[in-house]
Amino acid sequence: MGERLQTEDVKDLIRKALGARTKAYAPYSHYQVGAVLLSGQGRVYPGCNVENASYGAAICAERTAFVRAVQEGEREFQAIAIVGGIEGEDPKDYAYPCGICRQVMQEFCGPDFEVITAVNEDDYEIHPLKDMLPWGFGGDKLK
Ligand code: THU
Repeated sequence: MGERLQTEDVKDLIRKALGARTKAYAPYSHYQVGAVLLSGQGRVYPGCNVENASYGAAICAERTAFVRAVQEGEREFQAIAIVGGIEGEDPKDYAYPCGICRQVMQEFCGPDFEVITAVNEDDYEIHPLKDMLPWGFGGDKLK
């Protein structure tokens, strides 16, 4: 924890996110997303988007990964890698996390949590959570 990720680690997470994307269930939007969440312990949790005929019941790839990890007892996270694109095509541009997923990151992650958004393992951006969700709402406001 605390160290910035090495380039090889970033590439490995992107490869795993591309693998997770192959499991996407997106028969309505035909937009397939894969994510891999790296815990503070160094374990990885893949997720894909899972849609529903009742469209609002869809869950994003990022939140699928968080739910899996939290259910396993994880509470600290270093990074997430995200890839997305049209079904049947390789990703063509960066898939930035939606607002709800950024809020879930805020719940469990610190300001330096690294959000990796990638086209492939050689074409990616890394943004700290503090840039992706400035002035976010957190549980520290609640009693
Ligand atoms: N989606 C994600 O999985 N992650 C995001 O951050 C953005 C959107 C999914 C939800 C839906 O299944 C599809 O992409 C189109 O919105």
